Amino acid sequence: MKLSVLATKLEPMLRIMQCPVCASPFLCDGQSLRCTQNHCFDLSAKGYVNLAPSHVQSKEKYDQALFESRRQVFEDGFYTPVVSCIHSMLQNRFADQSFSLLDVGCGEGYYARELSKQLPNTKILGVDLSRDAIMAAARTASTANFLVANLKQLPIASSSIDLVLDVLTPADYTEFRRVLSPDGELIKVVPGNEYLKEVREAVSGHLRNDSYDNSQVVSHLEAQMQIIERKVIHHTMPLSPVQAKHFLKMTPMTFSISDEELALHSPAAITIHMEVLRCRAKS
Ligand SMILES: C[S@@+](CC[C@H](N)C(=O)[O-])C[C@H]1O[C@@H](n2cnc3c(N)ncnc32)[C@H](O)[C@@H]1O
Ligand SMILES: [Zn+2]
Repeated sequence: MKLSVLATKLEPMLRIMQCPVCASPFLCDGQSLRCTQNHCFDLSAKGYVNLAPSHVQSKEKYDQALFESRRQVFEDGFYTPVVSCIHSMLQNRFADQSFSLLDVGCGEGYYARELSKQLPNTKILGVDLSRDAIMAAARTASTANFLVANLKQLPIASSSIDLVLDVLTPADYTEFRRVLSPDGELIKVVPGNEYLKEVREAVSGHLRNDSYDNSQVVSHLEAQMQIIERKVIHHTMPLSPVQAKHFLKMTPMTFSISDEELALHSPAAITIHMEVLRCRAKS
């Protein structure tokens, strides 16, 4: 992507962005984002900006192969009901108003990409600490913008975001509340206890726990935010051997398992069980 095209695409987002080092506002000179204290972050011709340049990318477990497998399973429609559920919550909340949406831990950008097709007036920004994720996200044509950034120190101005989206990603509620506008909301998607149960069963010998329970994650959320809507998605679908391979590769559950070991397994079906929790900050 030409830097001038990226600069133009980023221009409307500058108002809601800030320097991750000193929290000053950014200006864009066509080549880089520079804050008023002179911290400078170059635009990449690959279509993104790295606002966490000191993060050691070579140690990232969320790598290109994982995001390629995630892209495949998204493309095959396994997560369409999740994006439809998020979309309908957004429609109920914002109707036709334009609003700003920050997808934290956006991965290869599926939700940001799909929502920007369905909500063309929405300003959508996806951030992830993995450069491989953001490079994959920025490669696909989308009106959304993508940044390498840490969700614990968001390069986002206070009170500037109407909706924070967090799908299967760690949360920092203090930081989320800082960036949310006074009546802003969070949509957090967490795995249900049967999420990818066929993968869990296949590799159970390598896992510390052979079952998953989201109650701790939800209790932590409830201590920080008020849940105002809760929907469950639960479906099981058959898998081809190629799709099975991608499901084994796309989850952090199999981070420590070699490709040779993964090749011994081929689940015939997959269960997508997730809870979509719409929340507002506790007053
Ligand atoms: C399981 S993936 C989910 C990705 C995406 N939301 C999806 O559903 O496909 C978790 C993501 O969180 C990102 N992540 C983890 N810690 C992060 C942090 N401190 N700041 C930003 N992203 C982070 C990872 O790089 C990874 O892309
Ligand atoms: Zn600065």
